[in-house]
Amino acid sequence: MKKKNVLVTGARKGIGKSILKRFIKKEFFIIGTSRTLTGAKKIQKIVKKNGFGMILKINNYSEINFFLEKIMKKIGNIDILIHNIGTTKDRLINNISKKNWDNIINTNLTSVFYITKKIIKHMIKRKFGRIISIGSISGFVGNPGQTHYSSSKSALIGFTKSLSLEVACRGITVNLISPGFIKTNMLNKLTVLQLKKCLKKIPMRKFGNPKDIAYLVKFLSSKKASYITGQTIHINGGICIL
Ligand SMILES: NC(=O)c1ccc[n+]([C@@H]2O[C@H](COP(=O)([O-])OP(=O)(O)OC[C@H]3O[C@@H](n4cnc5c(N)ncnc54)[C@H](OP(=O)(O)O)[C@@H]3O)[C@@H](O)[C@H]2O)c1
Repeated sequence: MKKKNVLVTGARKGIGKSILKRFIKKEFFIIGTSRTLTGAKKIQKIVKKNGFGMILKINNYSEINFFLEKIMKKIGNIDILIHNIGTTKDRLINNISKKNWDNIINTNLTSVFYITKKIIKHMIKRKFGRIISIGSISGFVGNPGQTHYSSSKSALIGFTKSLSLEVACRGITVNLISPGFIKTNMLNKLTVLQLKKCLKKIPMRKFGNPKDIAYLVKFLSSKKASYITGQTIHINGGICIL
C-alpha cells in the first residue's frame, strides 16, 4: 500500500503536536515543521522513521519556497495538508502597529494561501487531496484585542469555501476546524482572571484538549470523510452553537 504523505505545519507543540501524533501509523509519511532546529529535532524524535522534522519560519517567502521545494524533492507530493501554524499578539486596535498587523495576517492567512498554491497543483494531478486548516472561534464571534487575529481566521472561512468549490471535482476536500479555548501555550498567554472569565462562558465548564482537534483532523483526512468539503466545523464545548 502506498503511504500518504502528510504535512503538519507548527507541529512542535500544542494542537500541531497532537495532530502529528495521530498520523504516526505505517500508512503515513509525516512532515512536521517548527521555527527552530531544536523544534525540528524534537519532531524528528516523535516521528522517528515515519517522517521528518523540518524548519519552517513564516516571515520570508523565499524561505517558504525553499522549504516547499525541498520537501517536493524529497517526497514528490503532499496528500494531506494541515495548516496549523497560528500566532496571536493581543492588543486593542489603537495599539496595533502596521508591522504587528502584517505579522499576524502573514503568519495565519497569507502563508496558507502560499503553501496551498504550491502543493495543490500536485493534488490536482493526482486527483486526491485533503486540506484542513485550523481557524478559531475568534474568527466567528470576534474577541476584543484580536481585530488582526480574528480577521485572519475569518478570512480562512472564505478561503476554505472558495477553494473547496474550485477543486471539488478533483477528489480534493478543503475544510476548516474552528476551535474554542484549547489547553495549549496560547491559553497560557491569558491571566488567571481572564481564564476564569473564559471558563464561565463555556457551557461544558472545561477547556478543550489538543486531542479534541486532532481526532477531527484525522477523520477529515480519511476516506470516510470524502463527501465533506467547504465546511467549518466548531469544537468549543458549546460556547458558540450555530
Ligand atoms: N489554543 C487555543 O485555544 C486555540 C483556539 C483557537 C484556535 N487555535 C489555533 O490553533 C492553532 C495551533 O495553536 P496552539 O494553541 O497549538 O498554539 P501554540 O502551542 O502556540 O503552537 C503554535 C504553533 O505555530 C508555530 N508558529 C507560530 N508562529 C510561527 C511562524 N511565524 N512561523 C512558523 N511557525 C510558527 C509554532 O512553531 P514553533 O513551535 O516552532 O515555535 C507552534 O508550533 C493555531 O492556528 C491557533 O490560532 C488555538
